[in-house]
Amino acid sequence: MKSVFIWSCCLFWLLLGKGTAERILSRRTRRELASPLHLEGIRDPYGSYCQRRGGCCPGRDDMCTVPYLDTICYCDLFCNRTVADCCPDFWGHCLGVQPPFIGTCERNGNKFLTGQTYKENCNLCTCGSTGRWECEQNACMIEADMIQGVNRGRYGWRAANYSQFYGMTLDEGLRYRLGTQRPSRTILNMNEMQVYGCSEQIPLYFNSVEKWPGKIHEPLDQGNCAASWAFSTAAVASDRISIQSMGHMTPQLSPQNLISCDTRNQGGCAGGRIDGAWWYLRRRGVVTEECYPFSPPQQTPVEVARCMMQSRSVGRGKRQATQRCPNTYNYHNDIYQSTPPYRLSSNEKEIMKEIMDNGPVQAIMEVHEDFFIYKSGIYKHTDVSFTKPPHYRKHGTHSVRIIGWGEERKVDGTIQKYWIAANSWGKNWGENGYFRIARGENECEIETFVIGVWGRITMEDMHNHHHHHRKRK
Ligand SMILES: *[C@@H]1O[C@H](CO)[C@@H](O)[C@H](O)[C@H]1NC(C)=O
Ligand SMILES: *[C@@H]1O[C@H](CO)[C@@H](O)[C@H](O)[C@H]1NC(C)=O
Repeated sequence: MKSVFIWSCCLFWLLLGKGTAERILSRRTRRELASPLHLEGIRDPYGSYCQRRGGCCPGRDDMCTVPYLDTICYCDLFCNRTVADCCPDFWGHCLGVQPPFIGTCERNGNKFLTGQTYKENCNLCTCGSTGRWECEQNACMIEADMIQGVNRGRYGWRAANYSQFYGMTLDEGLRYRLGTQRPSRTILNMNEMQVYGCSEQIPLYFNSVEKWPGKIHEPLDQGNCAASWAFSTAAVASDRISIQSMGHMTPQLSPQNLISCDTRNQGGCAGGRIDGAWWYLRRRGVVTEECYPFSPPQQTPVEVARCMMQSRSVGRGKRQATQRCPNTYNYHNDIYQSTPPYRLSSNEKEIMKEIMDNGPVQAIMEVHEDFFIYKSGIYKHTDVSFTKPPHYRKHGTHSVRIIGWGEERKVDGTIQKYWIAANSWGKNWGENGYFRIARGENECEIETFVIGVWGRITMEDMHNHHHHHRKRK
């Protein structure tokens, strides 16, 4: 009898599989972290909870709870695994044993019991059995001393705390907030375009937003989706099409269209390649952001939402959408395409000339730990984390859109030249979503790989789109 029971139990676990067990555990973690219990600590750990509930539950049962302070506690046997969210009388009432609390820890005048946790920025601290807090030692995206270090030093830029980054580890920042793979060696060896006759006067200050009002698109927010490959590509193409069509079309192209549909050798919200994105924009084309809005991943960033837009050839290289807009309130599913991108020389003057003549360009850059806290000024990577352990100093590859340049006199009287660039971390980051970074010294490798492109626009397009606009009035 007994062996039959054991056998069926094993079978059950086999059927459940490793994946399911992991999913249950990860769901459990979320339930735990969401609980304010872990932030506030225990104020009244005594009393009858499971007893008043009228019993305990075997196995895992997410409904087996009792109101507890300003949250809930659990009376299912599953809570035993993490200890922290069991009701205080769980051990005595449900198991008939002494609570496994050996030590108590103090925090802000409150007592915590062994196994209880709270989160300090990006690190989980657990009350250890010896009565001491044991905290994880991750480097966080926001470190108070890094902010102070930058703001006290004379680095030429200011740092700030961003609530959207607070509580995330530096590794998570690099994993979820960037998302451009370094171009392969072959791509990096791509011929640089030579611009001849650079005799034209280049101004000391230039901003695409001022030269082409209404045609330069505002920075978007990629959220926790590592798809700067799609965001920077769509942004540069949007600006170029608007400039080239002289404002007849000002589409904001959809990064989501690229994230969900350009999936060959691309990782969606887990990173991708800009050469792949340009290939897609040229051969398949994308619709606008209004038509195919961005939807940041809810569960794991690696999930890629199903592709909801296809196009077919209608001759002469042009394409037409075969599906309606995923946003059902939008009827303009026109497909926008580009010509093949071209690589610019890393020479500062050539990049400037290109921007001035044709519009914003795309650039890859290395993002270091201190870039996340940039608020204003002219960014240069600082040495403020050089005294800390190596895992506080990390970097990853990102891509952005350069829209202009300028120069500023520093406190010591020398001139600091800068680029003006758009990031994709929302408009509350940096200078309204933009940042300035040192120019002419390949800061963070921003001058290493710079890309320009043309939209694919015919006279017919300009006429049709013009017509569109008039009809809607
Ligand atoms: C539950 O807690 C009790 C008391 O500490 C312990 O003896 C028992 O092994 C635990 N059971 C599981 C499944 O963790
Ligand atoms: C940053 O902001 C968060 C809230 O968004 C706050 O809890 C935290 O204390 C702040 N950290 C620093 C270093 O200012």
